[in-house]
Amino acid sequence: MHIVTLTASDVAQYRGLLLEAYELATDAFTSTAAERQHEPESFWVKRIADPSGMSVAFGAFENEELVGTVALEFSAKPKIKHKALVIGMYVRPKARGLGAGSALLLGAINYARSKPSLRQLTLTVTEGNLPAVKLYTNAGFETFGIEPAAILTPSGYKAKVYMWKTLQTIPPALSGLFDPE
Ligand SMILES: CC(C)(COP(=O)(O)OP(=O)(O)OC[C@H]1O[C@@H](n2cnc3c(N)ncnc32)[C@H](O)[C@@H]1OP(=O)(O)O)[C@@H](O)C(=O)NCCC(=O)NCCS
Repeated sequence: MHIVTLTASDVAQYRGLLLEAYELATDAFTSTAAERQHEPESFWVKRIADPSGMSVAFGAFENEELVGTVALEFSAKPKIKHKALVIGMYVRPKARGLGAGSALLLGAINYARSKPSLRQLTLTVTEGNLPAVKLYTNAGFETFGIEPAAILTPSGYKAKVYMWKTLQTIPPALSGLFDPE
């Protein structure tokens, strides 16, 4: 298994993987397969290789098959462009428990660290999704809040746990002195 940055040529596999994710891991995502299956190809290309550079996606390949992915979404807004959002984390059931999720997340973290303007990553995870919470906690993400009844799933309303991770390696108390801006 190897981890790469996805390009527009991976769009068909990426679309298929995400539609599978929305179908098989319904509670983990805010979007549904029904909503997303009619999106044009340009929607998926924007997710993995946004020409304006506002997102980047990583893929785990087993031979030629895309078996896992995660993406980062950036902002151009001056007040929040120091944060990137981790979205669309999914590993096919047959490839789970082998470290693909951790390797994808590490790829995203390392990419984010290479961008001097980024200071932190944020994400949300559905409460009770233990494999995902473990994955993020292992990578240094910390919980900073819980939104009750954040999503309506087939099994009822579920809360979303908000997590963040600083990309800075210097003490927070001194961070203002080293602001890359
Ligand atoms: C969450 C997910 C991406 C993890 O992918 P993965 O490739 O299995 O992850 P890894 O093999 O790198 O394992 C990561 C950690 O999760 C733990 N884990 C895996 N399955 C687990 C389970 N069923 N219960 C508890 N922990 C579990 C592993 O033990 C590992 O921790 P460790 O290294 O301390 O042992 C995968 O389960 C998945 O795609 N789930 C459905 C979609 C989803 O929930 N996405 C997250 C949206 S926020």
